[in-house]
Amino acid sequence: MTEKFKRGDGRAIDELRQIEAKVGVVPNADGSAMYRSGDTIAIAAVYGPKKMHPQHQQDPSRGQLRCDYNMLSFSVSERIKPGKNRRAMEISEITKWALEPVLILDKYPNQVIDVFIDIIQADAGTRCAGINAASLALAHAGVPMKDMVSSIAVGKLDKTLVVDLTKEEEDFEEGEGPTDIPISMTHSGKITHMQLDGKISAEQLKDAVDLAKGACAKIYEIQKKALKDAVDFEGGK
Ligand code: CDP
Repeated sequence: MTEKFKRGDGRAIDELRQIEAKVGVVPNADGSAMYRSGDTIAIAAVYGPKKMHPQHQQDPSRGQLRCDYNMLSFSVSERIKPGKNRRAMEISEITKWALEPVLILDKYPNQVIDVFIDIIQADAGTRCAGINAASLALAHAGVPMKDMVSSIAVGKLDKTLVVDLTKEEEDFEEGEGPTDIPISMTHSGKITHMQLDGKISAEQLKDAVDLAKGACAKIYEIQKKALKDAVDFEGGK
């Protein structure tokens, strides 16, 4: 790792953007959360567990998690066409994979837990922000969880690993160019999701996972504090 690498916003290579996390932001939902990392803001709302509809999708052996990720039209300066696209469908699916391992779904036969994630402002790392918000919202809804999930994108800019890329960094084109590695893991260190867009050696991938572990440990503390603040504020909800 090159310690001298200069990031556009002056952060150290292992430094996260400013984070803000809050639960209870959608009163109509069973659980909800906002997670902000710099200029990326995700809102997650959880509904359920409740009877699965349509009925033919019910599974008598276990409950199901349904995730719906959506980047709102006004979340970036170049307005996005509203509605489902392939990217949103892919991110909805990987969000489900990232969160499912911590849920105890066999407690809920024939039921579904719906998680809606809206990205209201985007500056890269939206899938990770969405997963962080969703994990918090599930905990806020009181859904039994074995662990919390925290998520971060590690990137390789030319040869240097950095955490929590901005959009400007994702577009970095010098040398080997950008590599984007979103990673989600439980507090106990089990990786529940990892993607790789770009090129990296096996050796450097291990370093990337180590950087992600350090970042996720910090994110976990912020998630825990958001939940604790809500309990203190709501008097034990
Ligand atoms: O957001 P994330 O890094 O998880 O996913 P991405 O597909 O790598 O997108 C990176 C960033 O590109 C987003 O966070 C947005 O800032 C931007 N983007 C955009 O401007 N327009 C799109 N249709 C999709 C993404």
